[in-house]
Formats: sequence, C-alpha cells, structure tokens
Amino acid sequence: MDKIHSLTGMLDHYDDGDIDNISVKIFETEKRIKKIFSSYKYSEIRTPALEDTNLFIRSAGDSSDIVNKEIYSFDDRNNKNIALRPEGTASAIRAIIEKKLDQSTHKIWYMGPMWRYERPQKGRYRQFYQAGVEILGYEEGAAEFEIISMVCSIIKEFNLKNCTVKINHLGNQDSKKSFCDALVSYLEPFKDKLDEKDISRLSKNPLRILDSKNKETQSLLLNAPSIKDFIEPSALTLLNKIQNEYKDICNIEVDYTLVRGLDYYSGFVFEALSSDLGAQDSFLGGGRYDNLSSKLGGKSLPSIGMAIGIERFASLISDFTPSNKIISFITLTSNLESKPYKIAHQLRSLNSDIILDLQLSEGSLKSKLRKANKNNSDYAIIIGEEELREGTAIIKFLDDELKDQETVSISDLYSFYKAL
Ligand code: HAM
Repeated sequence: MDKIHSLTGMLDHYDDGDIDNISVKIFETEKRIKKIFSSYKYSEIRTPALEDTNLFIRSAGDSSDIVNKEIYSFDDRNNKNIALRPEGTASAIRAIIEKKLDQSTHKIWYMGPMWRYERPQKGRYRQFYQAGVEILGYEEGAAEFEIISMVCSIIKEFNLKNCTVKINHLGNQDSKKSFCDALVSYLEPFKDKLDEKDISRLSKNPLRILDSKNKETQSLLLNAPSIKDFIEPSALTLLNKIQNEYKDICNIEVDYTLVRGLDYYSGFVFEALSSDLGAQDSFLGGGRYDNLSSKLGGKSLPSIGMAIGIERFASLISDFTPSNKIISFITLTSNLESKPYKIAHQLRSLNSDIILDLQLSEGSLKSKLRKANKNNSDYAIIIGEEELREGTAIIKFLDDELKDQETVSISDLYSFYKAL
C-alpha cells in the first residue's frame, strides 16, 4: 500500500525527549508562555478552529494577503462558506461579543493552531501555532505599557539574544487618512514603476505599501512622507515613553515605517524581530485595534493585543533546559514483579514537579542508562533483584559524573525524591 503523507507546510510535532529537537522546544515554550500569561492574571479563551469566513473578511480586511490569498475556506455540507482561522484575534472578539461581554474590561489569552495558505519555507508554515493575548476595554496608555512589559518579560524569560522590538503609531482615523493621502499623492507620479500588487495597495490600502518587498518601491519610499509628521503629539510622546522606560530591559526601536499585515490596526503597533531567524524574522506582532468590535457588530471596545509565532520563537531558544527535573526509573527485575512499580507510584505522589520516566521494557542496565542519558535525566533510580530483596534502591547521579552512586533504603529514597 502507498504511504499517506502529511500536507505541504503542515508539520507533525513529537516530543522524543531530545532537547535539541524543535518539537521539544515548542512544547516547553508553550508551557512556559502559559505560565507567564497566568502570572499576569490573564484568562484563557478557547474558540473553534472553524469560523464563518465573513469574520475574517470583515476583520483582516478584503485587501489583506490573508483574505485574498491565504485563507483556507470552503463550503460545508450545507453550502455555508467557512474558514480555518488564520489568526486568533477576530475569533476572540467574536466570542466576547457573542457572550455580551463587550461592555466590560478583559485580559485574555489563547494558544492554538492557525492556518494560512502561504508558500512554505523556513519559519513559514501552512499550519502554525500562535500564543496570543488581548487586553479589552482599555484606552491608549496603561494597556500599551502592560503589553510591552509582557513582551520584554517573555524575551527575558527565554534569554533570547539579537532581538529588537520595533514600535510605531498609525495615528487616529484623521491623521492616518491624512498620511495615506500624502503617501498616495507622492507615489501617484511613479505609478509606472510600481508592480501590480503595490498599484492595487495604492488604491485599496496605501499604508501596506510601506511593507512592499519590491526593491524599486522600497527605494521610492526612502523619500516618501513619514507618518511621524502626521500623528498627534500624544502618539509621539507614547512612543518615546515606551522606548525610554523599557530600554534597559529590551532593545526597543521606533520605526516609522512599521505597518501590520491585518487591516484592523489603528494607533500603537509593534513587532519583535530576531536577526537569527533569516527571511521570516518576525516572531511576535501586535497592536491596538479599537474599531474591530464595532466592525464585528459589537459595542465600541478599545483593545490591544499581540501574538507569538511559536515555531519561530522556539527556534530561537539556545540555552534550553527543561524546567522540571527528570528521573529515569529503571527496574532490572522481571516485568511481572509488581513491587518496583508500586514504589514508582509512591514517588510520583510525593513530588509532582518531577518527571518520572518509568522504563517499561526489559533490557540491560547499559541500554536503559543510555536511554536515561538521551532524555536528559538528572538521576536514575535503579532497582534490581538484590535491591528488591534488601528493600533498597540505587540512586545514580547522571548530572554529575564524578559523584558515586548511592544505595539507599526505600524510605530514604522517598525523602530524597520529596526534597528535590
Ligand atoms: P501576525 O503578525 O499576522 O499577527 O502573526 C503573529 C505571529 O505569527 C508572527 O509574528 C509570526 O511569528 C507568526 N506567523 C504568522 N504567519 C506564520 C506562518 N505562516 N508560519 C509560521 N508563523 C507565522 C496576528 O496574527 C495578530 N492576530 C496578532 C494580534 C493579536 N494583534 C492583536 N492581537
């Protein structure tokens, strides 16, 4: 029979215990990021992977790449057009509106797969994972400081090197419009030099031209009007304050050309990039989107949020050590001998922070220790026929080759394990 393969740009992730494996880094990243979200007192929200396609047309915008080229949409059996979510913000706001919670303040987080039909390459997949937060119901100010504080905490917690957080302000409705008009007037005379995509952006969404990958457009933009000259003084003050307050924690740069790929943003926007990532160098992005709730039929709800691309983020982690201690539990008795398994059961009940890897297969001590080393065990607990008879166990210190192994009574083993 032919084998069936996974779809292009969609990866399997399997934790084989090898800390250099990207899947292991991804799972550990998710665990630690969840902890950070909880430590900021955010609440989890989980929305369906499938939504009405109109949700994304109205939120991301019909001129965005996400809606035009990347959305996985199809008719269901009842001929309703539905889509796999390409991002989490629209679904979160839809859910808040549907629960009639769009009049109060919320701090929420989510994590899960997203789908975009993009050309796969390093760091760019068709199914990828995001961890995101949304701060709902707060006007510009405190929420911006909180979200940048969280971005810096995450970068610090994972000890990421070579990162820059770029920030910008897209202005209010009026200043954004004045800037877009000025940009269009500047670029109109050069229209014959622009490619098809940029010409279309010029009429549909001029701001997105700032993100053009076309070299000719990029050189024209060097002399284009800057948003800096159009946004309100309060916006400039906000950018300065954020840069000054957090510069000792994070490398923060004001970039007046920074724009985002989704249409719902207004006001403060940001992205975190790393020079270690290659072409897909942005591992986190977000910003303020005060008009999205009313666009989706809800009340006016000033909001700001961000999402981390888990695969890109995890690939940046170098000095990675799993947060929990790992112990390999090795028995050299018959598989039908139940006593060692009862001891392992007792150990687990004493300290739930420890990962106890109970090696179930029969085999030599050598092969079992090799496995323990491969999965980065800090210790091995060994029970053979003799130990079982004597009521003892051997503790082998795998994290310290110079230290001799110790034979201890089972009650001392329990005390040792509890104290780890
Ligand atoms: P985004 O910038 O489109 O924003 O995506 C956030 C992150 O997801 C990116 O920085 C990137 O790391 C990752 N990402 C995006 N596309 C791919 C892909 N094809 N493969 C791998 N990783 C990818 C949003 O999605 C907004 N919802 C963020 C937000 C939340 N804004 C406000 N609240």
